[in-house]
Parts: sequence; C-alpha cells; structure tokens
Amino acid sequence: MTELAVLNERFGIQDQLTFSEGSGGLAVVEIANSLAVATVALQGAHLLSWTPHDEQPVIWLSRDAGFEAGQSIRGGVPVCWPWFGPHATHPSYPAHGFVRTIPWQVSDTKTLDDGATFVAFRMIQTDATDVFWPHRSELELAMKVGATLDLDLITRNTGAEAITIGDALHTYFAVRDIRHIAVEGLEGCRYIDKLDSDKRKQQSGPVMFNAETDRIYLDTATDCLINDPGLQRRIRIGKRGSRSTVVWNPWRVKAERMADMGKNGYLNMVCVESTNAADDVVTIAAGDEHHLRVSYQVEPL
Ligand code: BG6
Repeated sequence: MTELAVLNERFGIQDQLTFSEGSGGLAVVEIANSLAVATVALQGAHLLSWTPHDEQPVIWLSRDAGFEAGQSIRGGVPVCWPWFGPHATHPSYPAHGFVRTIPWQVSDTKTLDDGATFVAFRMIQTDATDVFWPHRSELELAMKVGATLDLDLITRNTGAEAITIGDALHTYFAVRDIRHIAVEGLEGCRYIDKLDSDKRKQQSGPVMFNAETDRIYLDTATDCLINDPGLQRRIRIGKRGSRSTVVWNPWRVKAERMADMGKNGYLNMVCVESTNAADDVVTIAAGDEHHLRVSYQVEPL
C-alpha cells in the first residue's frame, strides 16, 4: 500500500477528507464539507487554503509558491516554532524556526456535530530537529475547518525543566488591494518597527498600507479586523494565548527581490500573524502546555 492509501484508510472521511498528492509531489489533505473547503500540506502542517461556502478564498497563496520538500511555501498559514524571526543566538538557523519545512504526521480526524471537519497533526521529532531544539517537548496543530477556521497550536513541555518558545501562525490573508484595506484592533498598541532599526513606536488609528510594513505589535489581546472594501468583507481574527501580532507586507521592491511572491502578488495579501515574539515569548514550566489559538471568520462589511 502507498503512504497515501494508508493515510486514506486510517484517517480518510468519505466525501469529506482525503489525502492526495499535491503540487511538487507533496502530500496534502483535502477537506470539503457543507460549510467550507480547505487544503493542508503535511509538510509543516501548512494550511494552503480555506474558503467558507459562498465566500471568496480567505487565505492567500502565491501563484509562484514553490512546493518542494524542505522548502517553505509562500502563503497559507506557515507555523513558526520554537522561535519567531531569526534565531536569537544562531543566525545560521532557519528563520521562523524549523517546523514549517519538515513532515508532520496526522494524529486524528473526525466530523464535528456542526458539520465542520477536525484534523490534528503532530510534528515529527528526529535527530535533525534535535540539533535545533534539544528539549523534550511535543508540538501539535489542531484544525477545525468550518464556517470559521479554528487553529490550536499546542506545545507540551514533556521535560524536567522550563522551556521558552516563540511561535506564530503566520497567516497570509487574501485582500482585493492592500492599498485600500485597514487593519483595526491595534490602535494605541506599542510596536517594534523592524524597518526602522527596531525602534519602539505607538500605533495611532487603524493600520493602513502605502509602503513596506514589518511590525511586531506587543501586548495585543483583542480581535483584529481586516476591513476590505474591495471584497466587501471584513475578516475577524480572534486569538488566545498570543500576546503579539505581526503585521507584514513586503511591498513592490522587496517582493520583486523574492523569488516566490508572484507578479504584483503583494497587492493581494496581508500577513496578520498571531504570535508570541520579542518581549512576548512564552515560558512553559515542566509538565505544562501552551496553546496558541486563533479563530478566523468572514463578516459582511
Ligand atoms: C514576517 C517577518 O513575519 O515574515 C518579516 O516579520 C519576514 O521580517 C516575513 O520578511 C517573511 O519571512 P519568510 O522567512 O517567510 O520569508
């Protein structure tokens, strides 16, 4: 039996959840229920798409995304763990941690009472990952795909000492035109401006975009809203267990220097990332667990 056949036999749900070979030969989970459709790559437990019934796609995936074993995929929901951005002391370690480019395994699938589909993934630890993270821990990502998309990134400290992690659900949201959207919910928050020598600043009013933007907002707990007049919708981002919010758009010049953003792709995306980064990293006591939870939903504008 092939690996996909084994997965389908063990975890497939008839007419709702199947495993297949996606672009570049990467294994993907395809979910279609009465509420939404979604696709997730097993590499990185990387959600590639989520479209609620009767809506436009909510998640942006670059037209020029590469799908290769061991390479990060541009768009979707990359999982950053156990650090966010560059590693604090080892600049040669991969940016945003190492779990977005390695295979994960499926640990559970089921249909929920409301018709949504549940799927959970577990990161596979190996000698290679121990090089970056020599601690005893477990990492899981549970997804509920329905009219809302709920993600729960669970870190369990199975060792005898406390561990400190940074993490992020680095979501790329689809928008009609970045120049006309506004992100609400960060008014008055302090942020680190990564494009201005990490200076600390304070947000006044909603976040609007007319240039490259790369900021870590600190101590953010309330919902963020992406108001998109072009698509006549608002994306609501609820979260728990995430103290920081990263807002990123590379804009034209940086996007052109990147191999995988697609022509003018930057115009149709915004990253609003629920994170624990910079001052907001999380310490987990021995035997404890930490949940980073998000809930996305679409509302009419
Ligand atoms: C954002 C960072 O989260 O991710 C940016 O704040 C970074 O600095 C961006 O450029 C994309 O990162 P990567 O590693 O996926 O190219």
